[in-house]
Amino acid sequence: MERTFSILKPDAVAAGQAGAILALIERAGFRILGLRMLRMTQAQAEGFYAVHRERSFYPSLVKFMTEGPVIVMALEREDAVRKLREVMGATNPANAAEGTVRRLYAAGIERNCIHGSDAPETAAEELAFFFSAAELL
Ligand code: RTP
Ligand code: MG
Repeated sequence: MERTFSILKPDAVAAGQAGAILALIERAGFRILGLRMLRMTQAQAEGFYAVHRERSFYPSLVKFMTEGPVIVMALEREDAVRKLREVMGATNPANAAEGTVRRLYAAGIERNCIHGSDAPETAAEELAFFFSAAELL
């Protein structure tokens, strides 16, 4: 069993797509270990995406991620990190495979509905960023 971390981004929550996306995730065999709605602060969004701070899209990404509520989730499955990235589809929905979350619901490369950790190590860091160990038993 492996854990990964996911965010339903402000675009998906505002559009009322959270339930449909969660259904895709559960249908792909994930167990929901933790789930919470919150609005990211500027500092949280900057910290969460700090790896991209030198990129030209960083200010816009931080603005997007703080524009409204998000749903943060702890998910469990065999090969969870890789499998969730498969369910999400490519960053740019134009390149995302048929049936993926981003292909079905995303408006563009930035407003792309969902985040998923990119490696088991980042999953552990990101889970700890939003959930206490006691919440994920
Ligand atoms: P994420 O981290 O959100 O799961 O997405 P990802 O791994 O597929 O993509 P990443 O390269 O880590 O980029 C993080 C998020 O930044 C926005 N982005 N905008 N305008 C652009 O060229 C651009 N590139 C990336 C997207 O919201 C992307 O998911
Ligand atoms: Mg990423």
